[in-house]
Amino acid sequence: MKSKNVLINKTVPGMILAKDVIDFSGQILVSKGTTLTDKIISKLQFHSIKSLMICVNKNGELIKENTQSATSEQTLHESHLSKIRKTEEFLTFQKDFNCCVENFQSYMEEVITTNEPLDTTNLLRSIHDVLDNSRNAIHLFDMINSMRNYDDNTYTHCVNVSLICHVFGQWIHLPQSEIGILTLCGLFHDIGKLEIPQSIIMKPDKLTEDEYQTIKQHTLIGYDLLKDRAIDDRIKYASLMHHERKDGSGYPNQLTGDEIEDFSKIVAIVDVYDALTSKRVYRDPLSPFEVLLVFEKDGYTKYDPSYLIVFFEQMFQTYVTNTVRLSDGSEGKIIMLNKHALAEPVVQVGNTFIDLSKNKSLFIQAII
Ligand SMILES: [Fe+2]
Repeated sequence: MKSKNVLINKTVPGMILAKDVIDFSGQILVSKGTTLTDKIISKLQFHSIKSLMICVNKNGELIKENTQSATSEQTLHESHLSKIRKTEEFLTFQKDFNCCVENFQSYMEEVITTNEPLDTTNLLRSIHDVLDNSRNAIHLFDMINSMRNYDDNTYTHCVNVSLICHVFGQWIHLPQSEIGILTLCGLFHDIGKLEIPQSIIMKPDKLTEDEYQTIKQHTLIGYDLLKDRAIDDRIKYASLMHHERKDGSGYPNQLTGDEIEDFSKIVAIVDVYDALTSKRVYRDPLSPFEVLLVFEKDGYTKYDPSYLIVFFEQMFQTYVTNTVRLSDGSEGKIIMLNKHALAEPVVQVGNTFIDLSKNKSLFIQAII
């Protein structure tokens, strides 16, 4: 069959590999004939593969298979979440979570139109009501991930980021008052999106350059909405700076390193984590492990390493002893983390111990 060289960032699920993909040490990462999925593409990007040989038909057009079957791996992650959705705890969490989102939504609509002062104490109370339903960080993440199929608007995203920021504040041992501010940084970070047309925010297809430029304005709009309010400056900066990146590749001001305010650096990590673990019209949510692979790929150039390491270690620690499904279909338990390759832990399958940092042909597809 004919083939064509395609840059990795131009590949999409459904394309068929015409040649084995081999890493620098000569190991096969993915075999020829494999139908690409989001996860396989993420994995290959993680291994810094720049382009792939893809099958084309006799007219030279790229062949694309229906990817319905390729998403079956998602089913296992879903089964873990569907068990949680049936618990009493989840139903209570869902009720308080929805209440918090509605409260935040109606409150913000009023604040924006009337210029009323912000009652942050009331907003924090409703965030705490949700947090009171979760026993620990992993439980909270499971609950948030179980909500994914229900709603996914700007308000929901802000509440998610706010809840995770709260946990992050505990991880880095901030005093309670500072945790409150970081929580509010998360809650207000995307507030500027409320003034961007919904048709652009919810657009399922790739954005045009003009639309992307419009979306980027939400940082400046958010700062403008908050700048004259009697709230901590770090909350205002978070709305302005959460898309800035350490290497200057972010927006709106291409700030670098410590020009970015500390709490904005944390919100940036949490924001990306939440976006990737959310369901989108064009893709299924990534499992937390897949997200961490994405972060490991270029995270250290874009995000503050000290916060990224905290995030990695805490997230992975919570997954030790979890059962996972590997890319060859086998199931095992994570028994030990690799300090220098957190996304590639040691997994016990039956009586065999597989060190994923040494066996590059396997990777974790789902937590089950
Ligand atoms: Fe944003």
